[in-house]
Amino acid sequence: MSDIQKDKKPILLSGIQPSGHLALGNYVGAMRNWVQMQQDYLGIFMVVDMHAITVRQKPADLRNRCLSFAAQYLAAGIKPEENVIFIQSHVPQHAELAWVLNCYTYMGELNRMTQFKDKSKRHEDNINAGLYAYPALMAADILLYQTDLVPVGADQKQHLELTRDIANRFNNTYSPTFKLPEPFIPKAGARIMSLQDVDKKMSKSDSNENNYISLLDPPDVLRRKIKRAVTDSAREITSESLNRPGIGNLLSIYSVLNDMQPTEVVNRFEGQQYSGFKGELADSLVAFLEPFQQRYDKIMGDKGYLTGILDEGSMRARHMASKTISKVYRKLGFVPAGRS
Ligand code: TYM
Repeated sequence: MSDIQKDKKPILLSGIQPSGHLALGNYVGAMRNWVQMQQDYLGIFMVVDMHAITVRQKPADLRNRCLSFAAQYLAAGIKPEENVIFIQSHVPQHAELAWVLNCYTYMGELNRMTQFKDKSKRHEDNINAGLYAYPALMAADILLYQTDLVPVGADQKQHLELTRDIANRFNNTYSPTFKLPEPFIPKAGARIMSLQDVDKKMSKSDSNENNYISLLDPPDVLRRKIKRAVTDSAREITSESLNRPGIGNLLSIYSVLNDMQPTEVVNRFEGQQYSGFKGELADSLVAFLEPFQQRYDKIMGDKGYLTGILDEGSMRARHMASKTISKVYRKLGFVPAGRS
């Protein structure tokens, strides 16, 4: 613990909601960058269970998914000794700061959030206040740790902008309290699209499992999903393919998995049939996910190891978060506990 506290590295923070199945979009848009950037930052990586309950979850599934997602962070290469990995609800300061920030967030701002509009359409029978206020909780997640950089996919950009607006508002009303976080949105893979519904983003909670690649899909399922992925009638890869829905998405997935520029991928496959390219893409996916899944199985086979990491992570997180929350309460004029 002391090593981490002495560490003066800037803070990198991100989180994923434990809903559905951790999908290739989450990996490419977010987790991959966490792994690549962890060397230069102190990484704070959360499983954000409190966000997940803005839509109904089955308790047993939610519990399993929290552990499974944390194990997948580790399997992806997040180093537990050098980062802070935890489950959001283990750190009560998130809810505490979220309440405060709710009071510094305008309804007009929340009304503009596209994720709220999308989710309200999808869950018409449960448009709850938590779903609406969700961006203030996300702002709390980030601002609690005086975060420098937040690596996310393109769909979270609006929430990051709001986080900065809320932080600025609080800082200007009182005095500098929160660091203004910068988003990190990757140039390639910031918005991986659904495999069947090619105009929609790939979502881990999609009800049609053919729309996404789960990081835990076995090889035969991976191959089948790629084979069935919707493309178009052109059949052959050309320089135009990158701009076409469907095939363009598959080419960008290939480019990220193989550390190539999208144009290099097009040059390599130009003139080839879609079916041949899909076969190679499936090979790349299997080559990447097989060792990932072996690491995952090993971690899940040792629950004590996993919960030990999460306990240690939440202890470190509570320590860091308590500094910010004390500062915020003092600035607000709350009477310090234990001295009244
Ligand atoms: P969530 O759980 O929807 O998604 C987790 C991360 O995956 C990225 N992502 C994608 N990237 C590329 N293509 C896609 N199709 C795709 N789908 C998802 C998301 O952009 C995200 O980075 N509100 C957040 C969770 C959150 C959070 C935070 C993130 C809560 N607190 C603090 C960062 C910092 C969310 O719902 O992500």
